[in-house]
Formats: sequence, C-alpha cells, structure tokens
Amino acid sequence: MSTCQNASSVVGVLSPSGELDVIPSPRRVDFGGTPLVLTPEVGCALHDLTGSERLAPAVSDLAESLQRIARIVDASASDGQNRPQITIRLQPDPNAKPDDESYQLQVSSHGATIVAPREAGCFYGIQTLRQMLRLASPEASHAAVTLPGVTIHDAPRYAWRGMMVDSARNYQPLSFLKQLIDKLSHYKFNVMHWHLVDDQAWRLEVKSHPRLTAEASRVSMGDESRGGCYTQQEIRELVRYAWHRFIRIVPEIEMPGHCMSALTVYPHLSCTGGPFTLPGVQCICPDIYCAGNDEVFAFIEDVLNEVIDLFPDPFIHIGGDEAPKDRWAACPRCRQRMRQEGLADEGQLQAWFIARMHRYLKSRGRRIIAWDDLGDKDLPSDVVFQWWRNRTPDAWRWPSRWASRGHATIFSPTSHCYLDYSEDLISLPQALTLSLAADHDLISPERADALFLGGECNVWTEKIPWERFLSRAFPRAYAIIEALWRADDRPNAERFIQRVSRH
Ligand code: ACM
Ligand code: ZN
Repeated sequence: MSTCQNASSVVGVLSPSGELDVIPSPRRVDFGGTPLVLTPEVGCALHDLTGSERLAPAVSDLAESLQRIARIVDASASDGQNRPQITIRLQPDPNAKPDDESYQLQVSSHGATIVAPREAGCFYGIQTLRQMLRLASPEASHAAVTLPGVTIHDAPRYAWRGMMVDSARNYQPLSFLKQLIDKLSHYKFNVMHWHLVDDQAWRLEVKSHPRLTAEASRVSMGDESRGGCYTQQEIRELVRYAWHRFIRIVPEIEMPGHCMSALTVYPHLSCTGGPFTLPGVQCICPDIYCAGNDEVFAFIEDVLNEVIDLFPDPFIHIGGDEAPKDRWAACPRCRQRMRQEGLADEGQLQAWFIARMHRYLKSRGRRIIAWDDLGDKDLPSDVVFQWWRNRTPDAWRWPSRWASRGHATIFSPTSHCYLDYSEDLISLPQALTLSLAADHDLISPERADALFLGGECNVWTEKIPWERFLSRAFPRAYAIIEALWRADDRPNAERFIQRVSRH
C-alpha cells in the first residue's frame, strides 16, 4: 500500500506513517489529487444510483454520517452541482462472478465515488467511506472534515469471513445480535455462524416440538435469570436484518453429541432413556442421540425442515464435534444398526449418521459443514470441514489432506481464532498471523484457492454473558478480518495495533 505524501492536512484518517487507518486494509490505495473538504456551510449531495433495496440501510447510514458533517442537500437541487458529490453506482461487469465483492472508491475535491459490479462491493465501499469519515471527524462538531485524494481498489482475499456466535451457552438478546451484525458488517465480515443448540440450552423455536424451547431455553449455564430463546419471527427478522448488511446467517444444529438440551426434553432419543437434567456447567456429556433409533432421525429431520424454512443460506452446520461413543458401544440398538449396515466400529457409525443427514439435507438443496472431528471419516466430498483442533505440530496439514479428497475447509484453529480464550492465550498479534497455508506437497495452489473457503473467529460463551461479548471478541476480531481480507504474508503487528487503537 502506498502512503500519503501530504499527510499533515488529512492526518485524521491516516496513521502517523501516512497509511489509511481503515480496517481491514484495502488491497490497493493510491494517493493523489486534491483532498475532499466537507463542511456544513457548503454541504454535499448524495446520489444513490444503485436502485437497490438491499443497500438502502447502508446508504441511510452513510447519509447520517454525512448529515452530521456536511448537511446533505437534495441531490436534484440545481445549486447542488457546486457542492461535493457523493455517488454510489453499480457498474455491471460481464466478468464479475455472482459473489464478487470488489469495489473502487475515488475521493477528490469534487466528491467521492463508489463503483462496484455487485451490490456487495457497493456495500463495502460505503463501509470504507464511513470509516474514513469517522476517522477524519474532529472532536469538535461543525468543523471541516478533510479526506485525502485517493483511489482505492479493494476486494477480499477470502470469500468466507465469519464469526461463530454461541447463543446456546449464554443467550444474547436480539437487539444485541443486531448491534453485533452492524459491527461485523462494518468491518466486512460476511458470515454469522449461529450456534443455537448445545448441552446447556436449546434456543431455536421449533414449532413441531415446542417443548424444546419451553423446557430447555430458560437458563444460561444453569442461571435461570439469563435464559431465552429465539422465536421464528425473531429469526426471520434477524436473517433479513443481516441480509441488508451482507451477512449470511449459517445455523448450527449439533448432532450427534452436545445435545443434552434435546435429550432432557426427549430422553427416549438417547441410548439409555434417561432421565436427564440440563447441565449447568461445560461438559462433554456421555449421552448423545441414539444412532440405532429411527425416531432420532425423524426428530432431527423435523427440526431441519424448520431450519431450512428459516435460513435461506445454502449451508447448514451439523456440528459433529466431541461425541463420546461409550453409550453407542453399550447400546443394543446401536449395535444392531452397526451389524445391519456392516459398520466396523462406533467411529464408522458416526460417519454413517452424518452421511445420512448429509443425504437428507442434500435432497433439500443444502450443503453441510461439520467440525473437523469428522475429518478422518469417509464422507461425501461436498461436506465442508471446519478446522479447529490445531493441537499437534502437523495439524495444519489437515486442510490440505481434506482438499486432496475434494473437501473444502473453513479455518478456525484454536491457536488463532478462539476469541473466548483470554488475550494471554491468543494475543492480538497472534490472531493477526492467522494464515490459510496449504501443504503444496498435497495440493496445488489452484486447489487450495478453490477449497480453502476462508475462516471464522469463534466466540464460545460458557463464561461470557452477552454484556461482555464485544469486549472479549474485539479488538482481536479486527485481526482476524485483516487476515482474511488482506491476507498479508508478513503483517506488521505494531502498525496494526496502532491502527486498531483508532477504532
Ligand atoms: C469446538 O470447539 N468444540 C468445535
Ligand atoms: Zn443407541
């Protein structure tokens, strides 16, 4: 990235070294031309030429920033022509893929122009401009705001830039989730992976099984004063809210383990029949769905049918992590299933379970994501693995091994992305070094490009009530988005920390 030569007049939006302080760093920044000065006396005109309903909230956020700084005049007013013009335009490009997120932002004394081939790019151009306006705004209101003359060409390195939000252990109110989506989208994340179900609670309203939320959502980690669930109406509202902000919501429904909330309500879906109580503490519980009981699959399909109706995203996460097999080993029905299906052990039974759910969801037009605990199983190649267990020196090779079998990976290694861990365990500079490195003995760069989708930071909430969620996840989430958007081989941690201090 180049630096600004006349940094002194526009220092607000630049670091002391003359770089743009936007997060994540745009791919290419060319300084040059005359700076844009915005004042309430002169005002400015805003032209949204996209005609996009999806972009309307983002344009209105931009209008609000501009209104504060430089009273917007009606763009159609004739005297508007003498004021700085802020323009957002879609410019169709036959070569742009449907998921293109690139944009160009040009700033000069005449105004600012955002051009992109798709709505997503316009959205990200608006976020960059909003960040620049905020960084440049002096403390005292009604003073001039000066942006450097600049041309930005920007596009993300990775298409999947997510945060996993654990709403099962601790419930977060819907208003908080909207605030979180505002923040994530402002920093160009585009996926909220929503962990809705776990041992300690079931948060998703399922109309065919209303007892799930009626009986298993009133607590957060055993605390009855902090429970809650999401009604289907609220979920639809949140999905729509996120759509306007270019965030996909990918729901996670855990199976066959981490499901004590469901087994507490329906103990007949377990191997032993229960009874059970909701665990008020973190656990890897021995009781999981019985793989030999067809009622389990009927139940899960009922749940997934409603999930499919609620969430338009092509992906559904089915969990699959930390499923102890002791109950299956001792269960006559599970043993019968293994005999009947010719499965050698309980590991193969788990692969059979997941393959069955894969078939079902594929028949409904959806693709599954599973935690990497299933990565050593023989599963259809369109199953996406989410890599988390970075526990052995050669663990980083797993995504390449999966890619050599045709599987895509989402990266969220515990070493960089578990933002519920304290900053002693994962510091900001450490998070910044997240790298989607491939083992090229196993796969070609082209294959890695096609199959390493991107990454997520994970915020598990066993110990994090919603009031502390943002302060735990940020600022390290800035480092994760920097790593996924910019993918700089040698990020400068010191400069990044300086930049973060301005956000
Ligand atoms: C996990 O952290 N259990 C995926
Ligand atoms: Zn069983």
